Amino acid sequence: MYKTHTCGELHRSHVGQQVELAGWVHRRRDHGGITFVDLRDRFGIVQIVADPTVSPQAHRELEEVRNEWVIQAKGIVRRRPTGSENPNLATGEIEVEVSEIRILNPAKTPPFSINKDEEVDENTRLRYRYLDLRREQMSRNILLRHQVVKFIRDFLTEHGFIEVETPILFKTTPEGARDYLVPSRLHAGEFYALPQSPQQLKQLLMVAGVERYYQIARCFRDEDQRGDRQPEFTQLDLEMSFVEREDIMALVEELFTKLVAEVAPRKRLFASPWPRLTYREALERFGKDNPDLRYDLELKNVRDLIEGSGFKVFEAAIAQGGDVRGLNAKGCADYTRKQIDELTEYAKNFGAKGLAYIALPKDQEMRSTFAKFLSPELLQALMDRMGAEPGDLLLFVADAPAVVFETLARLRVLLAERLKLADPNLLAFCWVIDFPFLNWSEEEQRWDPSHHLFTSPMLEDVPLLDSDPGKARGQQYDMVLNDYEVGGGSIRIHDRQLQEKVFGLIGLEPDVARERFGHMLEAFEYGTPPHGGIAPGIDRICMILAGEPNIREVIAFPKNQAARDVMADAPSPVELKQLEDLHIQVALPAD
Ligand code: AMO
Ligand code: AMP
Repeated sequence: MYKTHTCGELHRSHVGQQVELAGWVHRRRDHGGITFVDLRDRFGIVQIVADPTVSPQAHRELEEVRNEWVIQAKGIVRRRPTGSENPNLATGEIEVEVSEIRILNPAKTPPFSINKDEEVDENTRLRYRYLDLRREQMSRNILLRHQVVKFIRDFLTEHGFIEVETPILFKTTPEGARDYLVPSRLHAGEFYALPQSPQQLKQLLMVAGVERYYQIARCFRDEDQRGDRQPEFTQLDLEMSFVEREDIMALVEELFTKLVAEVAPRKRLFASPWPRLTYREALERFGKDNPDLRYDLELKNVRDLIEGSGFKVFEAAIAQGGDVRGLNAKGCADYTRKQIDELTEYAKNFGAKGLAYIALPKDQEMRSTFAKFLSPELLQALMDRMGAEPGDLLLFVADAPAVVFETLARLRVLLAERLKLADPNLLAFCWVIDFPFLNWSEEEQRWDPSHHLFTSPMLEDVPLLDSDPGKARGQQYDMVLNDYEVGGGSIRIHDRQLQEKVFGLIGLEPDVARERFGHMLEAFEYGTPPHGGIAPGIDRICMILAGEPNIREVIAFPKNQAARDVMADAPSPVELKQLEDLHIQVALPAD
């Protein structure tokens, strides 16, 4: 070993001890001929001091070193002189008076500083990720992620789960995204698909009698990139036999409640037990099925009031089966015309045709796009519904329900950010349940599973599959944390006939179903236990616990927003020979 101690552990109790340390030069400075170096390793920072009159060799070497050089230091721990302690540093009461320095490896000047918290272009950080990971915040994030996964493994092991690895080279697993394909050399013209999740395999493990399975599982989905999405990401994938929805929800709730207390003790849970919302309630109150419960700012339905009011914009939307809903932006009555125009432009991104408003400045006249069309009584009823007070700004959207919900949900989040309504130290976990089992796809003119193919409908709703499929609810549950969906799961179909019925409803021809999922259907005939599971997204949960704005910050080597690895430069062209081995010809698009 190059070190007897880590840089972070030295303390008053080590005073007088001879130690050997090794790490990176974090910072170096000279004071009255004496050289001070902050020496850093993963465990912390300690100050080492070289006095030319005491140890000329060490002093000479330290004169030469620059930031990020790797050195080894031998010396004696001593108390810092009174007045020079550093309360911001765990080791701030002591320093090491060095007698010997060995330079292990010099370093080029890094493209950004490691020892300062400064804005660095993200692509530069990703290009030099190994340096970026040396920075304190990233090092903390990676450690947090380790602690999260370690806690999960310990907890589930204690609860009788075993971790089973499942293949990465597999067959298409439909989770709603595009597959990543891997060409086979041995089987010309055939492809493996990387799993979008281990869904089928974990269900087969239930048929195999594993009963309690989990895996820290890598999943691959070729979908549009966003801050909370990566082409490859990690799930805590778990599945249990002989359970009902409540059992899985209770287990996951206990797991994450204890996890937060252990790895993020400064965070507080918004509510315990976690609130539960039906899908419908989540939409009505928040406009989306992954609502942030940390603040109110709820949507209000005003359609019944507005109907017949005479305001054309609203009447037209209602006549076409649309909705009119609003938000009360408390204290925003002073928004200028320009600011409201900006909100309107923002709303248009989500399909809204406009944004109607009533501004109620405290000491001035009301301003509004449409209040003049309303009778005083109607206006009052509208204000009452919206909980309006002087100082408020009421915003309304009239459109098809999906557009109204999405637009107001986005405005709600935007306004909450501006008004700083969400306490960053609160963790608002909640469950969303009672999703519709199927969604009608206008494009494809058929039903689509709202979760995935293997989710069971509520058993009492099975008859609806014949009479009114859109009304049937699924046995699925989403786990939501602050503004994110952080997990999804369901009780599965374990009966071949019901599974085939669902395939039929979603338009999967029996021969296609057999070709793609024959292994599942066959397995279900050999004694399948009732089972269900869930898959919390590790990246998103770590992002929220770390207080980061995107999941790249909690992944050691993520892809950038264009799905590239800019450090290794992947994807990249390959040798012709490799393509030939794989029986592949590349046809590039014309442009
Ligand atoms: P689902 O598709 O809902 O369910 O995914 C579960 C969770 O995985 C996370 N997630 C992602 N995280 C980062 N980048 C992505 N591209 C990405 N896509 C999904 C989310 C999401 O809530 N097999 C089912 C689970 C089950 O039924 O047990 C599944 O994968 O946090
Ligand atoms: P217009 O008649 O299109 O000039 O719109 C009058 C006002 O109503 C403007 O402030 C628009 O932003 C707003 N508006 C238009 N369409 C809608 C809509 N579908 N929902 C809410 N407000 C709208």
